[in-house]
Amino acid sequence: MNKTALITGITGQDGSYLAELLLSKNYKVVGLYRRSSINSFSRIDNTILSNSNLIMEEFDLTDPSDCSSIVERYQPDEVYNLAAQSHVATSFKQPTTTVEIDTIGVLNLLEAIRARCTKARFYQASTSEMFGSNYVESTDLGKYQNEETPFVPQSPYAISKLASHHMVRVYRDAYSLYACAGILFNHESPRRGENFVTRKITKYIGSLVNKRIDGSVVKLKLGNLDATRDWGHAKDYVYGMYLMLQQDKPKDYVLATGESHTVKEFLELAFNSVDLDYRDYVVVDPEFYRPCEVPFLRGDSTLARKELGWENKVSFQQLVSEMVQNDVA
Ligand code: NAP
Ligand code: GDD
Repeated sequence: MNKTALITGITGQDGSYLAELLLSKNYKVVGLYRRSSINSFSRIDNTILSNSNLIMEEFDLTDPSDCSSIVERYQPDEVYNLAAQSHVATSFKQPTTTVEIDTIGVLNLLEAIRARCTKARFYQASTSEMFGSNYVESTDLGKYQNEETPFVPQSPYAISKLASHHMVRVYRDAYSLYACAGILFNHESPRRGENFVTRKITKYIGSLVNKRIDGSVVKLKLGNLDATRDWGHAKDYVYGMYLMLQQDKPKDYVLATGESHTVKEFLELAFNSVDLDYRDYVVVDPEFYRPCEVPFLRGDSTLARKELGWENKVSFQQLVSEMVQNDVA
């Protein structure tokens, strides 16, 4: 019999790729989306939307009765909780909303599974932001973070995700649920939200190349160009989520490329790919600085590579090129 999977956040970057992956594996997918005043399905391809194995259901993670009734009704084999207020800068402006969605929402779902469907395997979208300002250093690996690195979160977003991360562990231990969390480093794609730095850059390049804006007048305003991130491709990372729910025992894993680059390096590569120099177009605007920054992220995903057989297939150069080409097209 086909497995049934619930995906919260199906309208987001990762949700759309995960839906495609699970449908290709003949899952029945229940895609959960928030009510919106306009259609928010732009990331989901029409052939996916018309797939008879996909059911779209209106849903809000912050409503406990909604979580309960969805889980009760569908008795899912797998639940992927990707819904979140996922923007770090926004979490400083909307800390309460962030905690309501990213912490209380997760608890609502865990409680629904504990009370209504204990067979369900649960995936929580944890994040490298939880490491915050911390990293470890060794002579062979250099600076990095992995499953053993202590968390020192630097934003309301990271704190709310860390609370959920611990909640998942407690529900796993206390109630023997198959519940696990993927500690995922940054992953991007042409479907990345337009206010994350990578897509903000490639979107601007697209407008420039297509002469929708005059680059001598409209500049690209950015914040900290020295921030360092470990950027992979979202498609590779959703496959890792799927693998985490197919094991004999639930465990938390880091997914990362192991390579890190500064925002400046992303800019150089992206602008150079269309024969432009980013210094002619970018201005630093303190509005985009964060009250607290995470300066350095580089993940060590040895455990996931060894135990899950996971790998990142798309290189940093291929990722930048795909994003630029998409926005230019
Ligand atoms: P995203 O594009 O921002 O998608 C977030 C999704 O959550 C959207 O579909 C959004 O719906 C939905 N959502 C927000 N609040 C909701 C609520 N109250 N009820 C139901 N749905 C709600 O994020 P993403 O990049 O795909 O990331 C997926 C998950 O992984 C998030 O939890 C994120 O925090 C986490 N994560 C992401 C990365 C990364 O680099 N991408 C790394 C580590 C962890 P709308 O479309 O209506 O806004
Ligand atoms: N968004 C944004 N906009 N970031 C900027 C800008 C700008 O104009 N200028 C510089 N940056 C810097 C930020 O200060 C940060 O250090 C870095 O670029 C990356 O910012 P984002 O792309 O917003 O991503 P993030 O690293 O804060 O968070 C993303 O990755 C996390 C995993 O580490 C999000 O996807 C989170 O949901 C995810 O958990």
